[in-house]
Amino acid sequence: MSMMPAVTKLDPFTKVTGLKTQHPKDLIGLPGVAPSLTWRSKSSNRAAAQVGYEVEVSSNESFEYILAKTGQVESSRSLAITAPGTNLTSREIRFYRVRIATQFGWTAWSETLSYEAGLLSGLEFTGDAIGDASGSGSASPILRKEFAAKGAPSRARLYVSSQGANEISINGLKVGNEFLSPGWTTYQERLNVSTFDVTHLITAGNNAIGATLADGWWRGRLGFLGENNTYGERISVIAQLEIHYPDGSKQTIVTDKSWKSSTGSILHADIYDGSEIDLTKAQPGWNKAGFDDSSWQPVVVHELNKSTLIPRISSPIRKIAEFPMKLVEKSDRVVLIGEQNISGWVRLTVDGKKGQRVVVRHAELITPDQELHTKPLRTAKATDTYTLGHDGRHVFEPEFTFHGFHFADVVTDAEVISAVGVAISSDSSSRSTFSSSDTRLNRLHQNVLWSARDNFVGLPTDCPQRDERLGWTGDAQAFAGTANTLFDAESFWSSWLVDVALDQDENGDVGAVVPDILKMGPKVGDWEVQGRAGWADAASIVPLSVYEHFGDTGILKQQLSSMRRWTDALNNRRNGADFLPTEFQFSDWCDPDAPSDRPWEAKVSSDFVANAFFANTLDIMIKVESLVGTPEGEAKYTKLRDELKSNLWLQMGEHAKTTTAGLSMALEFGIVPESERQAAADSLAKMVDHDRGKITTGFLGTPLILHAMSKNGHAREAYIMLMRREIRSWLYQVDQNATTIWERWDAIKADGSFHSGGMDTASDLQEDASMISYNHYAYGAVIDWVYRNVAGLVPVLDKPAYEKVVIAPKPAEGFTFTEASIDTRFGNLSIHWALQESGDLAIKLTVPFGSTAELNLPTTSTSKVFVDGLMSENGAQLTHGEYVIVVTNPEVINYK
Ligand code: BGC
Repeated sequence: MSMMPAVTKLDPFTKVTGLKTQHPKDLIGLPGVAPSLTWRSKSSNRAAAQVGYEVEVSSNESFEYILAKTGQVESSRSLAITAPGTNLTSREIRFYRVRIATQFGWTAWSETLSYEAGLLSGLEFTGDAIGDASGSGSASPILRKEFAAKGAPSRARLYVSSQGANEISINGLKVGNEFLSPGWTTYQERLNVSTFDVTHLITAGNNAIGATLADGWWRGRLGFLGENNTYGERISVIAQLEIHYPDGSKQTIVTDKSWKSSTGSILHADIYDGSEIDLTKAQPGWNKAGFDDSSWQPVVVHELNKSTLIPRISSPIRKIAEFPMKLVEKSDRVVLIGEQNISGWVRLTVDGKKGQRVVVRHAELITPDQELHTKPLRTAKATDTYTLGHDGRHVFEPEFTFHGFHFADVVTDAEVISAVGVAISSDSSSRSTFSSSDTRLNRLHQNVLWSARDNFVGLPTDCPQRDERLGWTGDAQAFAGTANTLFDAESFWSSWLVDVALDQDENGDVGAVVPDILKMGPKVGDWEVQGRAGWADAASIVPLSVYEHFGDTGILKQQLSSMRRWTDALNNRRNGADFLPTEFQFSDWCDPDAPSDRPWEAKVSSDFVANAFFANTLDIMIKVESLVGTPEGEAKYTKLRDELKSNLWLQMGEHAKTTTAGLSMALEFGIVPESERQAAADSLAKMVDHDRGKITTGFLGTPLILHAMSKNGHAREAYIMLMRREIRSWLYQVDQNATTIWERWDAIKADGSFHSGGMDTASDLQEDASMISYNHYAYGAVIDWVYRNVAGLVPVLDKPAYEKVVIAPKPAEGFTFTEASIDTRFGNLSIHWALQESGDLAIKLTVPFGSTAELNLPTTSTSKVFVDGLMSENGAQLTHGEYVIVVTNPEVINYK
């Protein structure tokens, strides 16, 4: 490493262009632990590289008072550097800046980053959790309090959480732009606190603060067993408003017995069933100062374990997009045709008379005669009802609910004027783009993106529409890699993984759903499905994926004990035997050759699946122990892994070779010995070729199969599968006008009929057991393969976060161009490749500062490689910058 230059020498080429922490940049009220800092730079000089950095921390934006600094550190790292200084105290605001040294000198200081801590202990909430005495399914409580402010504040913060969903207003205006807060976490252990800057909402004189509550996930209907009151029978809000005045004085308003309660227009609000709003029951002005609340009731104080209150670290649920809906008038209703299957609701404009009712139902599908197909929703009513409060125009949006839908219909005597589909999601920013000359593949990419947005509503769910919407761990692990390619999902997973760990049982077993409500309700027993292969392994697979994509070992340290507990639980389950005991597994769930009503009966044996995923988890542990654990841990898991893999291949290898899922797992998890690897890959490719790419794998095999082929010389067969259009393929769904990814390949059959979803699990617990969703992201995991192989951006896992990337596009017949970009932690990485008339492959590549790209281009024996006009070769390493690369006579995969 070159020595650092003296600070007096300035680098004229380089600039720090961004500084961030591991938390979403628009959140305040964060944890007090000194954050992890990551910055990015740009340089017009390709030779420039970071050789050192200096971080300063200040209590004021102009950096007059330096609280801590790193001094000049000789290092090329710009990723996940622990900020200097002590932990923050509650409410403390700190400012950070960084400058870097290259061999040409020092840059200027970066822009300032501010970081504000929240209330670091729930015990700092001095008020009470308040609500009313009502039970589940009741009208939404509205709570209010007035207070006098002696002037305009210099700063005001509102800290709020609730048991049930909340919305707060000050002087009649909604605070923040969150919906369904505090979201859904393992509530017994942790409740998110949102912090809002409300300085602009407080006025001199009388002010009013109002809270509306709803059942939400706390006590609303939850899970497919139709249970209420999962977390408690009462809902409540706890809030603390802290107002600072320019004279240094402070005023604090808390939720306590001085508040009053009533009910208003929301007669009912349920996540699955929808909401009922009667505007004739509204109390106009209730959340403004001067309202006469003399007829209101005193509030009821409810129990709350304040130590469960924690600063929110992941983005809240927000509105993320809107789609106009087309109106089709029928004799008895108005049908609303959307553009996109979304999670959210309809914003409906109607004209009518006071007291008229409007009923809006939702569905993912519509029949040819434009009837909503609501059967897949099972018992979820997904219906919003409104009563007009006056004559004339109303713009309606439901409250405290969401629906997974593409279509809707409206029954009303009022006139429907217009409708807009409003999409909500946990607001993780998308970080990549993909487009190619194949418009169907582009649509597939969009469909996967939307299935991710629609299923990231507070936590990673299986589906957003039916009476389920649970944090199924199997779906999450299948999709995590793709999610991390598509989104800056680091904090989303960091938060959910805390719940994964908290929900582990005393043996270390991980739930099939997290938060694990299956072990909570009174009807459990049959549904105790902890520790299932490929589901529970989310505990190891997801943290590693987050690390590989975002480069911060913090997530591995956070999860280390959870990962060890799960791995040891697996080992204890074996009780000295070679293999895990035979027990119920979801296995290669929804293998399309399994009986459609018994999706757990995959072709591959569930014993092989269980032990293969165990071996994979051991591989992950070996890596994690080497990164953040101990050499003893690494040695222990290595021994277990080596024994297990060799036993597995010896005793179950022959069986694995008979199925595509078995071969995919054997190849991707390194179970097949090196000497047999190529033969195994060849035989997998042969099976796929024989079936002309028809999909023969389920939830666990499908994310692996294309990689298993293309990494072993069979990109051609991978393309056959990816580009197949007949039924049982990704593009079949696109041809059927899907806008999200389906749960089953034949969810719409070739004759246009809809899959019944029928399941063989009907019982007195769940009568109408069916399972068919048009918005399940698990099979969308294929998009990671597309970024790596069609676009050719392959992350190198030992240099995570794209510090190193291999450029390996695999152009295939029929594609004239592909472009993709990923906003990595180092900056924008992008590729655009095109097959020229001359037959040459022309590539424009952008490599961010701090990252290295290694060329692995599709050459043939006669190819030449030129980088910026100069003869180069495969294997060349490129530093940051923009490059024009030409490959003459490239290999083009002929898969048709
Ligand atoms: C969910 C799946 C889940 C599966 C496991 C289904 O009801 O929708 O996505 O992984 O159950 O059994």
